[in-house]
Amino acid sequence: MLRLEVKNLNKNFTIHTQGGMKVKGFENINFSVKNGEFLSLFGPSGAGKSSILKTLFRTYNTTKGEILFHRDNKEIVDISKASESEILELRHAEIGYVSQFLQVLPRVSAVDVVAQQLIFKGEEQTSSRQKAKEMLAYLSIKEELFDLSPLTFSGGEQQRVNIAKGIIAPKSLLLLDEPTASLDKNNTMKVVEKLKELKKQGVAMIGIFHDLEAMEMISDNIYKLKRVN
Ligand SMILES: Nc1ncnc2c1ncn2[C@@H]1O[C@H](COP(=O)(O)OP(=O)(O)O)[C@@H](O)[C@H]1O
Ligand SMILES: [Mg+2]
Repeated sequence: MLRLEVKNLNKNFTIHTQGGMKVKGFENINFSVKNGEFLSLFGPSGAGKSSILKTLFRTYNTTKGEILFHRDNKEIVDISKASESEILELRHAEIGYVSQFLQVLPRVSAVDVVAQQLIFKGEEQTSSRQKAKEMLAYLSIKEELFDLSPLTFSGGEQQRVNIAKGIIAPKSLLLLDEPTASLDKNNTMKVVEKLKELKKQGVAMIGIFHDLEAMEMISDNIYKLKRVN
């Protein structure tokens, strides 16, 4: 079952502080992703990979092209043209985005940051916290850190909390921008294992990996980008 079709997608940035100068983000992007499939975006730095994910999540507006998202209820919505309220609804229920960086409120513990994702979906608090602890332990977060705010954690620890938060309650489509960028091989492979489980559950994913071995292990398809500027 198709989940997302991207057709002739183009993005230019207008730099208002430079007299409206145009910078190419990416051009003529075409791909589709089915449920349970992982598509990787691959190409040199500056090729437009992150901008594509941000455009799919509608953090960026589309310059030209279509982003046809097949909803759980079978409706098809063009993300490039959907209203702000439709986008908020999709982000709430069907599309997730995991960046490299953890963004959380101060004074919320690592366990709660992760457990909240399950609680938002209606799961009961005790089992949500238990599952959050298991996920953090799986990703090699030390137990003594569980009840502390992840804002004081190391870069790699923050990234693992971020992944735990991003995958514990997966939505139908998950966008992952270098989620393992500062992880060692062992933890990167653990993340790959978890992402494989999500594929089995039918989650469609589009991701960017700098670790080529991880990319090849997880990908069903690889979309290659060239530098456009
Ligand atoms: N918000 C922005 N404003 C202006 N230019 C941007 C913005 N975001 C990305 N770009 C430009 O778009 C191009 C692609 O960037 P990016 O998507 O970050 O590439 P990648 O993730 O493949 O390294 C680069 O030339 C970058 O400078
Ligand atoms: Mg990038």
